[in-house]
Amino acid sequence: MQNTNLDSILESRRSQPHQLIEVLQDIQEQHGYISEETMATVSEELGVPLMDVYSVASFYKSFSLKPRGKNVITICTGTACHVRGAKLIVNQANAQLDVAPGETTDDGQFTIEHVNCVGACALAPVVTENGSYHHHMDSGKLRKLIKSLESKDTEENSND
Ligand code: FES
Repeated sequence: MQNTNLDSILESRRSQPHQLIEVLQDIQEQHGYISEETMATVSEELGVPLMDVYSVASFYKSFSLKPRGKNVITICTGTACHVRGAKLIVNQANAQLDVAPGETTDDGQFTIEHVNCVGACALAPVVTENGSYHHHMDSGKLRKLIKSLESKDTEENSND
């Protein structure tokens, strides 16, 4: 992360340990992940033990400790989604992109994640793609979704 960005996030919050979650949210939002180096700076500047910064950053699913891909596909594997075929959707993502949940493709285009429930059990199985919900998913629908994101990325790159 560029230090100037981090400086502006930390400005007026230094030595204020209660600002930890807000600071981490801003870092996540602006940079897509929170690196170890950034956690050490936050620890020092807010006066929060590094272990506590790490605990908070790793506890909340909305924080990522690794860089994420351009497209983040989150597959719900909670009970309702599981009984309606979430495993087949995970297998599809794995086969099509060659990554397991929690991993990012080598080209940095896709990150696959899984969560325990997104609160839409009646619409199971559920997948979110860059924050948009897709309900009643199956492996065929996921295959098409990934293909359409790949074509969109190719189009954008050819227009650059
Ligand atoms: S278990 Fe998947 S939305 Fe609740």
